[in-house]
Amino acid sequence: MSDLDTLLTENRSFPPSEHFRHQALVRDDALHREAERDYEAFWARHARELEWMVPFTDTLDWTPPHARWFHGGRLNVSVNCIDRWVRGPHRNKAAIVWEGEPGDSRVLTYWDLYREVQKFANVLKSLGVRRGDRVGIYLPLIPEAAIAMLACARIGAIHSVVFGGFSPESLRDRMNDAEAKVLITADGGYRRGQVTALKRNADKALEDAPTVKHVVVVQRRPGGMGDESFAQMREGRDHWWHRLMQSAKAECPPEAMDAEDVLFILYTSGTTGKPKGIVHTTGGYLTGVAATTKYVFDLKDDDVFWCTADVGWITGHSYLVYGPLANGTTCVMYEGAPDWPERNRFWEICEKYGVSVFYTAPTAIRAFMKWGEQHPARHDLSRLRLLGTVGEPINPEAWIWYHKVIGGLRCPIVDTWWQTETGAIVISPLPGLTSTKPGSATQPLPGFFATLLDSKANEIGVGGGLLALTRPWPSMLRTIWGDDDRYVQTYFTKWADRPDLYFPGDGAKRDDDGFFWIMGRVDDVLNVAGHRIGTMEVESALVEHPAVAEAAVVGKSHELKGQSIAAFVTLRDGYHQSPALRDELREFVAEKIGAIARPDDVLFSADLPKTRSGKIMRRLLRDIAEGRTLGDTTTLADPSVVASLKDQYEAEES
Ligand code: PRX
Repeated sequence: MSDLDTLLTENRSFPPSEHFRHQALVRDDALHREAERDYEAFWARHARELEWMVPFTDTLDWTPPHARWFHGGRLNVSVNCIDRWVRGPHRNKAAIVWEGEPGDSRVLTYWDLYREVQKFANVLKSLGVRRGDRVGIYLPLIPEAAIAMLACARIGAIHSVVFGGFSPESLRDRMNDAEAKVLITADGGYRRGQVTALKRNADKALEDAPTVKHVVVVQRRPGGMGDESFAQMREGRDHWWHRLMQSAKAECPPEAMDAEDVLFILYTSGTTGKPKGIVHTTGGYLTGVAATTKYVFDLKDDDVFWCTADVGWITGHSYLVYGPLANGTTCVMYEGAPDWPERNRFWEICEKYGVSVFYTAPTAIRAFMKWGEQHPARHDLSRLRLLGTVGEPINPEAWIWYHKVIGGLRCPIVDTWWQTETGAIVISPLPGLTSTKPGSATQPLPGFFATLLDSKANEIGVGGGLLALTRPWPSMLRTIWGDDDRYVQTYFTKWADRPDLYFPGDGAKRDDDGFFWIMGRVDDVLNVAGHRIGTMEVESALVEHPAVAEAAVVGKSHELKGQSIAAFVTLRDGYHQSPALRDELREFVAEKIGAIARPDDVLFSADLPKTRSGKIMRRLLRDIAEGRTLGDTTTLADPSVVASLKDQYEAEES
């Protein structure tokens, strides 16, 4: 609770400056009042700001826990993100300003995007992709990722983007779960000067993904046409992106999609070993992301918006691609690492493109803080007017540093709480209205309804409890792909007899001003550097190693990443602990899942602490991992196990 205490004594408050407030889109509580009066009418009004081919007849049909928004309406997401702007004065406005890690750059105007997306939509059709089919996207952060997503949307295909850092096995599982027909990948991507072997990973994944009939390969490596070491092209299955595009027509009429047709699936970790395919639909998702992008980031026509997330995560979907483009905004997209070739890279990019709104993760901010003020000091950051954070709690110290060093004390900070499942930001300051407090995501946005509950669904006014969303919202997930029972179970059964209450899995505190302070997950999900990882996923990976008999994984606080992974492992007979085996197990997990899941610590133990009923005592493991005084061990079957684990751990730490 000590972190909590620090947070709750954090009572500094930062109202927006007069200057900011004066120009802000939202500067009073009219929107909140409108949404509270009639939240359906509020969302219907925002939905009507989009372009519909057929107007909707009903706003909401809510049969808990299933929602249907904008029934009867038909629209196309790519039309809303592109065609709308091409018809008007934004035709030649930059849509995507892209920079590759090696320093190459490209600017795509809305007109360019209009042509490229339609061409690629025709390419997909020529490969047999039809409305409702699934398409996998496994790319570096290059414009083709956005083009591929929008091309899917144009023809009504469902995309499933898989983060390029995931392993072949993770990719394979996702392709199989969604039964994807086509996979789009690249001959490589750049990360810290190294080329990632995406195509080779894809080839491995596809050895066991029979539904994928075609692979489109973007040539990312300069002069790497057909470079055998990076992309061996399989006759009949694999096609170069640029070859297919050469002969593709630039007109592809948009499909009129039902508001509730699936736009995409995005896999995220839960409390089992198997990631879940979060399903987002067309009309509600776009309404939610368009409105929240506009209000939270206070977007103006001349803004240059940089969301640093990869398209492989929900933040990249909602605030790098769909939300900004649905607002006709210019977005910056950067392929690589923040410290390549030097630690000033982000600030160099901000200066070079005149970034005015910057949105990143607390983990990145903590790294910048550690690297020192001299890096941002080399650059003119005076165009910045608004900063944002996402993905994990931000500690007040990092908040204040961000405010001072990056924001020059003049930029409001929006700390945005949301999830893959919510599709759009739910709790966040409105930068022209809210007096922010470092470490608090403040209050729900207009149209979203959150509260804190105890385990019996009693509301907690001030104090700690479980976060709950009490009303449906347009961009909410509709189900888990192929597993509606899991959808109901995971999100709507926390409170008995209240299938209308959505449980996000987070614990939070509420202060006297009604502000929310998100404390983190209360389930077996870890948040490592802003990325969600299930403890069970890592455990399942570990026990696949021949040396491992049993594994238990817990989170441990980490100065930079927020949390790191600590794995407790018991070995099979005949295997002996050694530093080499520890490294091997860490690598094994990285290879099985992806580098983001690599445990920082692997601890060998003769046994794992269990209750008499055989349940692993994670609380004790967490205490050990954190080096804390042990909690209550009286329910332990064999208390000596914990003591020996702790001794060993401390010896290794020193
Ligand atoms: O625990 C919360 C944390 O990230 C989880 C959602 O992870 P994911 O679906 O990967 O989406 C991340 C990007 C939206 C949440 O359950 N989280 C997200 N934003 C915040 C946060 N925790 C504290 N403060 C935030 N601003």
